[in-house]
Amino acid sequence: MRISVIGGGYVGLVSAVCFAQLGHTVELIEIDIDRASSISQGSPQIYEKSLEALLSKHLEKSFHVSTAYDAIPDTDISFICVGTPEGDNGDPDLSIVQSACQSLGRSLRDKDSYHVVVVKSTVPPGATEGLVVPTVLKHSQRAGDETGFCMNPEFLREGRAVEDFMHPDRIIIGSNDSRAGDRAESAYRGIEAPIIRTGIKSAEMIKYASNAFLATKISFANEMGNLCKRLDIDVYEVMKGVGMDHRISPHFLNAGAGFGGSCFPKDLSALIALAQSLGEEPLILRSVQNVNERQPARILELLQKKIVRLEGKRIAVLGLAFKNDTDDIRESRSIPVIMKLKEKGANIAAYDPKATGSMRKLIPDIEYCSTAADALRGADACLVMTEWPEFSLLDEEFDLMKNRVIIEGRNILSCQDKEGICW
Ligand code: UGA
Repeated sequence: MRISVIGGGYVGLVSAVCFAQLGHTVELIEIDIDRASSISQGSPQIYEKSLEALLSKHLEKSFHVSTAYDAIPDTDISFICVGTPEGDNGDPDLSIVQSACQSLGRSLRDKDSYHVVVVKSTVPPGATEGLVVPTVLKHSQRAGDETGFCMNPEFLREGRAVEDFMHPDRIIIGSNDSRAGDRAESAYRGIEAPIIRTGIKSAEMIKYASNAFLATKISFANEMGNLCKRLDIDVYEVMKGVGMDHRISPHFLNAGAGFGGSCFPKDLSALIALAQSLGEEPLILRSVQNVNERQPARILELLQKKIVRLEGKRIAVLGLAFKNDTDDIRESRSIPVIMKLKEKGANIAAYDPKATGSMRKLIPDIEYCSTAADALRGADACLVMTEWPEFSLLDEEFDLMKNRVIIEGRNILSCQDKEGICW
């Protein structure tokens, strides 16, 4: 099949490369010239496990990248994978989706055969039929039955996106006509996973409900963790026991500094905004958000129990990315912690295996170290904010500290004299 993918970010690039790996011919459209040129040189600006290897395998063979929409009419199906950042009042900003649909529509004007448009971007229920369908049809000036529409949400975790694409738990294809749905389904031929066919709005809602539920599990584990801390109980021991119930499952029950990233916080806000617009009070979702927003403050409270005046103190912050295996710092729990430490006059020495460059752009005026040992040298305290596996190997490095105050926001260190945010 000939597939076009619009948008070369995490979701678009990973999907495009994986479709090529499945044997399709893929045209990736990325309008950002710098981003497109790094992809065409085989070195994408994002870090994603096994992505570069797969990209170089297919580049200029079955995978092409371009900044224009010219290749679209020669493809059978287009996947829209552009960003839907948080807009005003928590609603997602759909302007990038809209402009992609305009360009996509225009490019289809002279195509004289059936084409399928699939929305992979996370959009609220109703957006595919209310925005995507009319925009594409208006700009393509094609009859309604010459174009099919589907909604196919993604469940890719950053850092494991290639693995998640190739081995998904399920593939959701929402469509209102079976011809479009069948074509979208055949793009995934070769992947072993249940394929669930739904209506378009259900597919849109499945994505939001899945992310909201995962975020709920994390905030629940954090609330239990905060309670366990007061009772001197190890919340990890508790959640291990809880997660062994197959109705609950052990995943996403790791208590800590809370969830960050480009998805959970944004999708939760979007669902809250949607509920409110419908006159529903989203009680659970609001609590999930509240628990998450309070977690980073807890790590600072623990620190200040040990060091009352932080002014002039050297605080090592280990971990800047919103989670391990990524250089992404969006909504990272380390950001509010660093901002608060700065406000209190502390000297911050930060280290992250991958995300230093991204954080430097956001917060330029702190010290960035090239190893954890450099950050720890002479430190009055250390805060661990990301679950990087390499932190579990830290041992003698802590001897370099001036004062051995070690507090972790993720359950990752193996040294004995540490304190956990909620364990
Ligand atoms: C999340 C979902 O897991 C994907 O299924 C979804 O496709 C994606 O959002 C999206 O909507 O595009 P991602 O944001 O990459 O993926 O990251 P996760 O691995 O889900 O972690 C999110 C945050 O939760 C991280 O900050 C992580 O540290 C935190 N977390 C995760 C916990 O605090 N505890 C846990 O038990 C698990």
